[in-house]
Amino acid sequence: MSRKLIAGNWKMNMTRAEGVALASELAARLKAASPAGFDMLVCPPATLVAPVADALAGTALAVGGQDCSAHDKGAHTGDTSAAMLKDLGAGFVLVGHSERRTDHKETDAEVAAKAEAAWRHGLVAVICIGETEAERDAGKTLAVCSTQLAGSIPAGATSANTVIAYEPVWAIGTGRTPTAADVAEVHAHIRKELAGKVDNPAATRVLYGGSVKPSNAAELMAVANVDGALVGGASLKADDFWGIAAAV
Ligand code: 13P
Repeated sequence: MSRKLIAGNWKMNMTRAEGVALASELAARLKAASPAGFDMLVCPPATLVAPVADALAGTALAVGGQDCSAHDKGAHTGDTSAAMLKDLGAGFVLVGHSERRTDHKETDAEVAAKAEAAWRHGLVAVICIGETEAERDAGKTLAVCSTQLAGSIPAGATSANTVIAYEPVWAIGTGRTPTAADVAEVHAHIRKELAGKVDNPAATRVLYGGSVKPSNAAELMAVANVDGALVGGASLKADDFWGIAAAV
C-alpha cells in the first residue's frame, strides 16, 4: 500500500492573492502536522502555478498543473507545455480530466500524448478516467474504465511517474458519490487492469475523485485500493481540504 495522496484541483478559480493565501495556509498546517501520514498536492490554474510554487518553495506541499500540451513548444496558441509548468516549480500535472475530455474533446490518444509530454519534462502525470451517468446506467462502468486506461496510459508508465484518478463524471460537483462498495469494485478493477500497463501496479496510486468532502472522506479513503483523493470544490477552502486530509 502506498502513502495516500490528497490532491486539490482548483479548476478555473482563485485570484493570485487568494491562491497564495490558501496554499500558504495549507503548507503551514502540513508543517504543524509533520510528519503527516499522507502527501498533499494543489493544482492551481496555469496563471497561478508560479506564485503558488514560489510561496510553497521549501515546504512539503507539492504543486501541479491542470493540463499540459502534448507538444514541447511552438505554434500552439493558448496552450501550456509541461516544460513551462516544470520551469515554474510544478511536480505534477493532471491529464485527461473529464472537463478537458468534454470541453476540449480530448481523446484517450491525446491524453496519452500529454502524459508522455509530462514525463519528458520530469512531471508526474495524474491520468484521469471515469464513466458518465449514462454509461453507468448501461452497466458499462468497468468497460469504460478499461478502455480509457488502455488508451490513456502510454508505454513506460511506472508507479513513480504516474497516478491514476478515477472520477465518475456524474459525481463531479454534484454532491453525489458512488457507494463504498461501488468504489471498491471499480478500484479493484483498475488495479487489475494496471497489470502490464505500469511497472508496479500495487505501488501505483489510484485516487478517487467526485464530491469528496470532509464528511465522506473517511469512508471513501478507507476503501480498499483507494490511495487518495482528487478534490475539486472542497479543495478551495483550507478547512474543508484539510478536513479531508485529516480523515485519512
Ligand atoms: P468535486 O470535488 O467538486 O466534485 O470535483 C472533483 C474533480 O473534478 C476533481 O478533479
